[in-house]
Amino acid sequence: MHKFLLCLLLAISLAARAQVNRIDLATAKFKTGDDVSWSTTSYNDKDWIKIKSNDNWDHQGFAGYDGFAWYRFHFRLNSSLKNASFWKDSLRIFLAKIDDADEIYLNGSLISKNGSFPSDKDGYITTWSRPREIHLSTNDPLLLWDKENLISVRVYDGGGLGGIFSAVPYINMMDLVDAVTMNVEFGKTREEGSAILIHNASGQLVRGTIKATIQTLLGSKMEVVDLLVAPVMIEPGMEQEFNMKNFPDSRIELSASFIEENTRKKIELKKVNPYILTPHPTSSPRINGAAVYGVRPGSPFLYKIAATGKKPLLYSAAGLPDGLTIENATGIIRGEIKTAGETKVLLSVKNDLGESKKELTIRCGSLIALTPPMGWNSWNCWGLSVSEEKLRSSAQALMDKGLADHGWNYMNIDDGWEDSVRGKNGEIVTNSKFPDMKGLGNWLHDRGLKFGIYSSPGTLTCGGYLGSYKHELQDATTYAGWGIDYLKYDWCSYGTVHQQEKDTSLASYMKPYMVMQKALRSQSRDIVYSLCQYGMRDVWKWGNLVDGNSWRTTGDIEDSWESLKGIGFAQNKMSPYAQPGRWNDPDMLIVGEVGWGPRLHPTRLTVDEQYTHISLWCLLSSPLLIGCDISRLDDFTLGLLTNDEMIEINQDPLGNQAKLVLTVGNTQVWAKELSDGSRALGLFNLGENYTGIAVPVKELKIKAPGFSLRDCWRQKELGYFTNYRAMVPPHGVVVLRMK
Ligand code: GAL
Repeated sequence: MHKFLLCLLLAISLAARAQVNRIDLATAKFKTGDDVSWSTTSYNDKDWIKIKSNDNWDHQGFAGYDGFAWYRFHFRLNSSLKNASFWKDSLRIFLAKIDDADEIYLNGSLISKNGSFPSDKDGYITTWSRPREIHLSTNDPLLLWDKENLISVRVYDGGGLGGIFSAVPYINMMDLVDAVTMNVEFGKTREEGSAILIHNASGQLVRGTIKATIQTLLGSKMEVVDLLVAPVMIEPGMEQEFNMKNFPDSRIELSASFIEENTRKKIELKKVNPYILTPHPTSSPRINGAAVYGVRPGSPFLYKIAATGKKPLLYSAAGLPDGLTIENATGIIRGEIKTAGETKVLLSVKNDLGESKKELTIRCGSLIALTPPMGWNSWNCWGLSVSEEKLRSSAQALMDKGLADHGWNYMNIDDGWEDSVRGKNGEIVTNSKFPDMKGLGNWLHDRGLKFGIYSSPGTLTCGGYLGSYKHELQDATTYAGWGIDYLKYDWCSYGTVHQQEKDTSLASYMKPYMVMQKALRSQSRDIVYSLCQYGMRDVWKWGNLVDGNSWRTTGDIEDSWESLKGIGFAQNKMSPYAQPGRWNDPDMLIVGEVGWGPRLHPTRLTVDEQYTHISLWCLLSSPLLIGCDISRLDDFTLGLLTNDEMIEINQDPLGNQAKLVLTVGNTQVWAKELSDGSRALGLFNLGENYTGIAVPVKELKIKAPGFSLRDCWRQKELGYFTNYRAMVPPHGVVVLRMK
């Protein structure tokens, strides 16, 4: 047969197979507005525009549109789709993610609802990051086999981006291959290798073929360094393991596909190994952590020198101001400074291998949190199920796993600690999960750690617990009695008070924060004040006026690339407002095991996305609050959180926030000025493939003929350059320190 004809026939047969397996809903008819008749098959949408269904409408001519809009997907449902499947009993409708809430109709009937609309009983609730997947029996009378069908989606966007996004929606059959899962485990050493595990959850013998490759970047090209093709045969409920090579010191991409024999349907997997860039701390001493510390005159002083090195370490501090003493065995400095002023203290940490010295500036004045607070908060892991036991276990792990030696020191309880009624004198009391707050505070302080808490200016918190409304002074006094060092103050349910007052002036947004600020400042201890009202009325422009030490600039973060990217890379406009004691807060960290409730899961961010997350937060001078169960921290996450050169960028005493210097295609370069005159650069690749990113010499206005560069994650000098280009992995970053 003619070669061309053969190719054509092959292409046609592949296309036919693809068509049989799945119906892609790549485009839809689209209209903004709202009318329930738009769900019906009789409605004629010929005048509606055509829109791509894998990207928000804001990127397709409807920038900034918030409110209702409808999508209509017309498709023919051929029974060949059903016949080509193994079980033939259940159909899947996958509509990707929908920003924010929606109703999904099939041929005019409602089949699914996600989140809720402002007019609904519960008010507006977003479910923007949840994938929409509906399963219907193939006998469902709503399905019109071998006829035209219509899926209409009523979407409400409550703010930010809107509409269907993240992937091409599709329809296919639930099949034998859906009962098969594929996972990869990367060993810690070369010898351990990597293992691909295929599990068969069906009651059926599963056969097929696995194909896998391991690739790594060599020079500027991805090269295959291991290959696997093997037959698969798995008994019901069993697992089969396939071994491949492993390169724990390099970044490798493992791609695998399994094709099921009966249906030729495929499952795929792509994973990067958790490659650790942070070098192991040396055995000789090294002093880490902030080089400047603020305290108010007369407030209790508590600062533990953060240092790594073989234990035991002997700590000392020369030139401490009057009123402070150091505990030589622990490095905890305590006491009280009576008068305002600045003191330079020489810290020293010794062991039998050597000594490390570092200057600490103690600034006694009105400003605290002179560098971004670093610590832990319970919300992203435990949500409302936080308990004293869970906090203590993370605090203990913070010390045991050495995080405290790198400067992590706040242990903050988020929502969920409050009882449902106040005490007889109106005082706030804890629920049974926190039997002894003062005892807990003492336990933390004894170890040089700090203690944080959460409340809301409304009658209720966001989690429905008691808020501080009309009890602000009383609550602040209670907190101070427990030894609280940090208050995260939300907005929830204050919205109702705000509406009732019918005042929409800027002052009305500042008011609840002013009230609590006065209450906090009347206490005889320093309480870091963290505002959490999601950036309303550009809080970064006035957060300092209510004496906020940090302010959330966005809504809540989640462990997805969309959430990380949407929040992290939108912080440029706030940059001028960051300064010592005043920090923009793009929300807490989402690495490690997170969950927002009693059940935790490993973060859904890829390895490179996690490097991007920590790098960006360090460059942005963001507060760093770990949001995972520290007692379950793995080596990779530990490496992410204990890189002293990255932490140094975050804790730099100048307090600048990185600015976006250059965007080219899917790449962004951010730069942060540091106190020693050097600059930290983040070369970020937001795209899907390895990309070369150059140091933007012109945009950085470099006057010298060249510059020296240091790779911060690897903690290695790179050399002296007149220009430099790094290969950056997809969704990943290279952080450089430039002199
Ligand atoms: C949200 C806040 C979260 C968490 C939660 C507690 O408003 O953004 O970080 O504090 O309330 O209910």
